[in-house]
Amino acid sequence: MGDSKKYITAEELKKHNKRDDLWISVQGKIYNVTDWIKQHPGGDIPILNLAGQEATDAFIAFHPDILFGS
Ligand code: HEM
Repeated sequence: MGDSKKYITAEELKKHNKRDDLWISVQGKIYNVTDWIKQHPGGDIPILNLAGQEATDAFIAFHPDILFGS
């Protein structure tokens, strides 16, 4: 929380690509979705497929009505 920013490289993001250590990037921010994935209304498969990756295009494609991360 707060305004502090930490910059994370694509290389670092890529390391967090496992079910028990799962990050995705959406619209310039990195989210640790390890625990939250169980609550995703779209299920775990779409997120697991993008684990450790930039997921903005897929996010927008599947949730065109959701404004997120602003
Ligand atoms: C942090 C990232 C994400 C958040 C906060 C999120 C949030 C949500 C929410 C709130 C819904 C319910 C939408 C509704 O009922 O209208 C949903 C559904 C869904 N999401 Fe996500 N999602 C995320 C990432 C993704 C990604 C990366 C994908 C695809 C690669 C994805 C695919 C889907 C699909 C397929 C559904 C079901 C849509 C439907 O049944 O109409 N989500 N997600």
